[in-house]
This record gives sequence, C-alpha cells and structure tokens, in this order.
Amino acid sequence: MTTITQYGLTEKALSYQAPHPAVAEKETSKDRAAFADPEKKSLLAAATKVRHLTPYVGTELVGVQLSQLNSQQKDELALLAAERGVVFFRDQHIDIDQQYELTKHYGDTTKADSGSNYSDIRAYSNYGADYHSDHSFEINPPAYTMLRLVRTPETGGDTIFTSQTALYDKLSPGFQKLFDSLHAVHSSEAGFLNSVNRGVTPFRGPVRREHPLVRTHPVTGVKSLFYNPSFVIHLSELKGQEAIHTLNFLREHLHAADDLTVRWKWEPGSVAFWDNRVIAHRAIPGGYDPAQREGKRTAVYGEKPYFDPKSESLSEKTNRLGVGSSVKITI
Ligand SMILES: [Fe+2]
Repeated sequence: MTTITQYGLTEKALSYQAPHPAVAEKETSKDRAAFADPEKKSLLAAATKVRHLTPYVGTELVGVQLSQLNSQQKDELALLAAERGVVFFRDQHIDIDQQYELTKHYGDTTKADSGSNYSDIRAYSNYGADYHSDHSFEINPPAYTMLRLVRTPETGGDTIFTSQTALYDKLSPGFQKLFDSLHAVHSSEAGFLNSVNRGVTPFRGPVRREHPLVRTHPVTGVKSLFYNPSFVIHLSELKGQEAIHTLNFLREHLHAADDLTVRWKWEPGSVAFWDNRVIAHRAIPGGYDPAQREGKRTAVYGEKPYFDPKSESLSEKTNRLGVGSSVKITI
C-alpha cells in the first residue's frame, strides 16, 4: 500500500507542544583545521592511497584507521574536509564510543544520531531525500560531521555530496555579487509538521533562522553558497516573486551540478567525514529495505554562519596562490 504523508497545519500539528526549547547560541572554539599543516603531510603519509574521487569534491583515504589518528592527523583531516568537502574511509573498526571521542576533538558535539532512512524520494516533504545541510536552520549549524554505516543493503541507500564552494565558484560575477548581498531564511517547519502528522514527537518546536546566502569558511577563507532546498524558504532582501524564482534557480543550479558532486556507495564500516558548512547532501532512498541500513552520525556545532566581504571565491584563491600551491593540489 502506498502511504501519502499528510502535511500541513492540521489540528494535531497546531496543538503539539514540544518538550524542549530551541537550541541556544553556542560559543564555538577555534576550528581545528586552523591548527593543521597546510600540506597535511602526516595524514596523507598514513594513507596507502589518496584517491580524489572527482575534481571538485570527495577524497578517499585508503589504508587509514580513524581509531589510530593522532592529534595532528585529526587536525589535518579537518582541513582536508574543509577543502575537499568530504573525506571517505572504508573498513573502519570503531564503535560508537570511539566515534564520539573522535568527534569531540573537533568541538562541542551535537547529540549522537542515527543515520536516517527514507522510503520514497518523491514523497511530499521527505526532507532527507532532497539536498540539505544538516540542521541549517539552527543558529550554529553543524560543522564537521561523521556518518558511519553499520549495516547496508546490497544495493541502494547511497549518499550524494555536492560542493557548495564550487557551486558558488561557477556562478557568473554578477550573480555572485547579488548573492553576496542576500540572506536566506532557513526553517524547520516542513519537517516538524511532517513529523507530527506522522505521529512522531519532535523534541523541539519549529525554528526559523536567517543566515547569509554566501558564507565564508573561517579557515580556508573561501566563499561558498549556504543554500539548500529542504530548509530555505525565502531570501530576505527580495520581493516574493523574485525570491521564488531565485530559489528555483538555486535549486536547479544545485541539482544540475553533476560535475561538482560525488556519489558514495556505502559498505558496512564505511565512514564519511564532511564539512557541513560547504556541502549539501542527499540520501537516495527507495529500492531497498530500510531495516537493512543502519548508520551512526556524530557532529560538532559550527560557528554562526557569517559573510566576510573580503573573502574570496575558490578560483580567486587558487589563482592568487598559483600553480603548485597546496590549495591547488588538494581543492
Ligand atoms: Fe543529512
């Protein structure tokens, strides 16, 4: 039987009382990537192979066990994730306590979470199935995020990661300038209403938050889009129809970016470590039994997103540093 998820301001949704208040603003400590050797020699030397999976996003480190990383290598992993968007590992032997300890190296952890499963990519308001940055509607959306799959189906349940740094870089100068000046309204209301109407009891009520549409990475200094179609509902400085059409453009820009995207097929023990500030991702549901897929996700709070008008696009930075710089090699 096909279930059509009920959605909207039902009686049930209107009368729901969330048990916890909204998450308050966090003071975050200095990003660990700022302590890393720019060339990441210690981490990269530990790998038997460094495999850049696409030109713009995604690097697999072969032969590295996360449980064996020293403090310096952990810092370099953060920088690699900031530059490459997402770093992948296979055959990892860590349990949830070790994963949690490793995550704590990068800052204050958000609560441990299970990787979500979704049943229908085309369902109404199935937010994990469309592109998103995790919890982008919070004041301090997560920065470094780790997902480890414990069990996986034979086929199905892949995750797609797209570089928002490259998405910004590919815009024309005129669009870049316009987008530099805008703020996006992120809202959790669709997911909240969907949950309540499905009989789930969310911890917190829905929240809306304004963030710059273009954000600056605190360590690389590079600009990226901070857009996603799951949570962004409006662009504050634009009139209604202008915002609707601009958001439609942004959605198409993101969905059409096969060249700025990596698709990862999970196996038991696979880990993705990504920088949620510069990546939009989506789960690919359907075609498998969700009970066969189990994951553990841990993350740290990131800084409140900000836009520094003096920051650069990816091309501006690579051009300024020239051929042969470490950025040129790794980004
Ligand atoms: Fe997610």
